[in-house]
Amino acid sequence: LRGSQGLDSVVVKLGGSVITHKNVPRSYRPVVVKRLAGAMASAGVPVVVVHGGGSFGHPLAKRYGLSSRPTKSPRGVGETRNAMLELDLKVCASLASAGLHPYTLSPFPPAAGDRELIQGLLGDGATPVTFGDVVHDREGFRVLSGDTICAELSRLLGASRCVMAMDVDGALDAEGEVIPELDEEGAQKVRPSGASDVTGGISFKLKEAVRMASGGTEVRLVSGLRPAEFSKALRGLDFHGTRIRLSARAQRG
Ligand code: IPE
Repeated sequence: LRGSQGLDSVVVKLGGSVITHKNVPRSYRPVVVKRLAGAMASAGVPVVVVHGGGSFGHPLAKRYGLSSRPTKSPRGVGETRNAMLELDLKVCASLASAGLHPYTLSPFPPAAGDRELIQGLLGDGATPVTFGDVVHDREGFRVLSGDTICAELSRLLGASRCVMAMDVDGALDAEGEVIPELDEEGAQKVRPSGASDVTGGISFKLKEAVRMASGGTEVRLVSGLRPAEFSKALRGLDFHGTRIRLSARAQRG
């Protein structure tokens, strides 16, 4: 049952291509983020925010050969993480300017993996925030995508929805038209569009989306550049974008 583990919440991914200008290093988009923050502040549902790296994280990760494949070299790890922290400060300032009370958690366990902590923060009116980052384990350093964090958080919190804000209207077909609804099979057929980045683009996003959907979280892909549609997606209303839903049979529970 949704919410049986406590407060129901919506996980929101603010894509790096929405919150930054992808092709201009370290270019933050304060106006765009403030609008989305306004939508979150007035949505009437508790929100957990995960943001991407955009032109803060990706160019550095690329320069130092950091990707989803682990490397033993610590070169560039500090610099990449610092850029993510810099971006996080900006995102939090935008969230605060819309009246939210952001509380940044390290994406690295245990913080972002601590259900009680996250639900406690939500219960007391704060907005937990975390982001794609460079993490370390026995195999070395690797980039942990914000999309993967969304999937983990959705499962951890039993979130009813995950809204992923992108720089396009959702998953697009070969004609560039938005696909309103996808199931598992449909998601596998979507062809990548645009340049891929260190964490894999739309195919990877859809893989994580299917994983969330199979856990009972409805995933909504929407343009972060259309705050009205983002707001509807957040509230569970009809919106312009892509919904990923599996048949009840395909869901685990
Ligand atoms: C990437 O996170 C983080 C780093 C590059 C360190 P994401 O993969 O979630 O970022 P976007 O949304 O694609 O920019």
